[in-house]
Amino acid sequence: MALENDTTTEIEKPEKEVDFSGNYIEKFGKQDTRDQFPGAYVNWEKVGNSYIFHSENTSLELTVVTEDILKFRYGNFGYFEDDFSYGLDPDKKFEGVTSKFKETKDHFKVVTKTLKCYIYKDSLKTKICDTKDVILVEDEKGYHWQDEKVFGGNVVITTKKLKKGENFFGLGDKTGNLNLLGSRRELWGTDCYGYGNETDPVYKNIPFYLNLYKDTSYGIFLDNTFRSFFDFGKERKSACSFWAQGGEMRYYFINGPKLVDVCEKYTYLTGKSQMPPKWALGYHQSKWSYYPESTVRNLAKEFRDRKIPCDVIHLDIDYMDGFRCFTWDKKRFPNPKKMIGDLRQQGFKSIVIIDPGIKIDKNYSVYQQGVKNGYFCTRGDGPLLKGSVWPGECHFPDFTNPKAREWWATLYKGLISDGVAGVWNDMNEPAVFEDGSFPFDARHDYDGHPCTHRKVHNVYGSLMAQATCDGQNLYLDNKRAFTITRSAYAGVQRFASVWTGDNMATWEHLKIANIQCQRLSASGVSFVGSDVGGFIGSPDGELYTRWIQMAVFHPFFRTHSSGDHGDKEPWMFEEEYTNIVRKFIEMRYELMPYIYTTFWQYATRGTPMIRSLNLIAQDDPESYFREEEFMLGDNILVIPVSEAGAKNRKVYLPEGDWYCYWTDKKYKGKTEIEVETPLNQIPLFVKAGAVLPFQPKMQYTDEFEFDELTLHIYADDDENTSILYEDAGDGLEYKDGEQSVKKIITIKSLSAYIIRQKMQGNFESVYKKYRTVFHGFDSKPKMLMVDGNDITNQIELLDNTYTISLPKNFKEVLIS
Ligand code: GLC
Repeated sequence: MALENDTTTEIEKPEKEVDFSGNYIEKFGKQDTRDQFPGAYVNWEKVGNSYIFHSENTSLELTVVTEDILKFRYGNFGYFEDDFSYGLDPDKKFEGVTSKFKETKDHFKVVTKTLKCYIYKDSLKTKICDTKDVILVEDEKGYHWQDEKVFGGNVVITTKKLKKGENFFGLGDKTGNLNLLGSRRELWGTDCYGYGNETDPVYKNIPFYLNLYKDTSYGIFLDNTFRSFFDFGKERKSACSFWAQGGEMRYYFINGPKLVDVCEKYTYLTGKSQMPPKWALGYHQSKWSYYPESTVRNLAKEFRDRKIPCDVIHLDIDYMDGFRCFTWDKKRFPNPKKMIGDLRQQGFKSIVIIDPGIKIDKNYSVYQQGVKNGYFCTRGDGPLLKGSVWPGECHFPDFTNPKAREWWATLYKGLISDGVAGVWNDMNEPAVFEDGSFPFDARHDYDGHPCTHRKVHNVYGSLMAQATCDGQNLYLDNKRAFTITRSAYAGVQRFASVWTGDNMATWEHLKIANIQCQRLSASGVSFVGSDVGGFIGSPDGELYTRWIQMAVFHPFFRTHSSGDHGDKEPWMFEEEYTNIVRKFIEMRYELMPYIYTTFWQYATRGTPMIRSLNLIAQDDPESYFREEEFMLGDNILVIPVSEAGAKNRKVYLPEGDWYCYWTDKKYKGKTEIEVETPLNQIPLFVKAGAVLPFQPKMQYTDEFEFDELTLHIYADDDENTSILYEDAGDGLEYKDGEQSVKKIITIKSLSAYIIRQKMQGNFESVYKKYRTVFHGFDSKPKMLMVDGNDITNQIELLDNTYTISLPKNFKEVLIS
């Protein structure tokens, strides 16, 4: 027995061993059909940094992963699964840290620097509090399970208490309200062509949700790849449950207290994104499908002739020979290398789609290799699994077999030597035409833990994307990989970006896309976007324009369409629209330094690039249910126009001061305002104190080197820091320190406005100076000193704003 003020307690192994011998019926009598709960407490032990609490039928392993992350695993009858996970970052060892421990008559207490976790002996129920004993989350029924012998399938469940006032967010690409309170959601990756706001499940399976209650928040990551469910007070208002139809109950509790902290800490577990090649943050144009070669060349020419910026052209399935992956239709594309090379000269990168289905064709080498080496999935009774997709009958690689993943990676050699710059993975839920997906009896390796498809389904898409990313890393020769995937499991951000699948050209879908992207971003996956304009159906010019205006602020920015319902190139609508669309795509390129910096913050800290209001103003109840406003990065608030013909719209500004991007008018936050929404504007607000870096308009990301980077400085009364991250935009040298991080600090004192710059890192940016533009400064500065030199006479008035050129390495500017 330990004392209350104990520090880390050394624990001896309990004398009494747990007796799990004998079968269930002998020990507990005839089974009943009720859920099973942990029985009477027996003893506990400590293994490494984990505590294992044994009851007569269940063991709970609790690991203090970090001071803020607790891991819970429940094993029945002394059996824990091999602790293997596809979700966790493989580069880390999660061995846990030491903690204080105390045993009393009826409970145990595990204490970290920020948390207290109580484990009750009678039930193995848990309660987690902060250090002030404020309850963060508490078991209601706690862990229980449905015995497979009774229910025909093992189901592991956890039920927590739900208090009035709690809110729930996250969970990947779900449609419906941003706040998940009152809903039940399912994770079972599904090809849901033309899904709607009520459709569930959809494509991705990210079993991670966030909870917000007053000034506390936490996250739960259920690391289980079986079909799973989350009930946020739908079934019973006072309970939140999550369960999986198989496997082990294994979840992580992630402490806030800020929701953004929870998001970041979740990526401590599941890993960070790599920096993408900068071009991947440019504008992408896609259609099902651009072919033959002359169409692709014309498309490229149209972009350049019309001066609409674009970095990437996507080739959908029709580039292949009879939909055989890793081949070209040589009639349509007689010389892909030449075409891709020419496009590259014009500043276009080429991305090709690759699906998992490999055509059954004895003369096709990919098929031959897969069969010969046993890389394809089999049925339970032995034969190779067959399913029909675009090429007709196919076999499918078992991406859970590490050898098959290695093989898949090598298949990209040809495409990459043809010049392909990135890969788009689709149909990887996995989708099969007649049956929806694989039969449950399909067999998989699961990295040496053989199992059926029930366990693999939800992670199949992620593993395909992983092998695809590995393939690019093998052959791209020091360039950065870029992968997009439709299906995904937790941790997909380590190797891919995602899009939200086959949406529709309706105003409702513009709203759905906005919510899906915000939700994915809170779920560790910031590199997100939707098919701009809708995949199915035809938008009119207005809807397309409004969608473009929103998607400029989504990290992945691509127009894609099914091609069945008319064309969707930016110039396909009346000229009025084309001109506005051009202006907004140009803006994307002007904003590139800001977007790239925001990506770096995400890649290094896991900070979501898109932030819903609840992430930035969680103590403001208004943020619980507002779902259209979002921030991109630290300083830009975006409110899409989501209704046809809207001349104005209501906008909620969170706490703080905000500048209207278009007028420079300053607003006080924590209030709803109404703003005008002419077609050539999307409501945009810049946080007071922000320094926004803009580069010149370009037709593609590295079109030319420029001399001057523009810094838009928005006045504020408080001290603020803005970040500017730079590196070469491609290549891997940034990992060895070829990067630069500039902190631009603005301070208002009684006599002066001070701008300080602190620089770190080796990367030397090509521009020589900053063009600084002052917003919110009432009158022309009387004096402007840079590093001790008076340059007041160089201040200019341009478009009603004062501007001045500064050397890029300035240390301090004084304005009075
Ligand atoms: C799926 C994809 C879509 C693609 C089509 C043909 O429907 O979601 O983006 O264009 O397949 O490959």
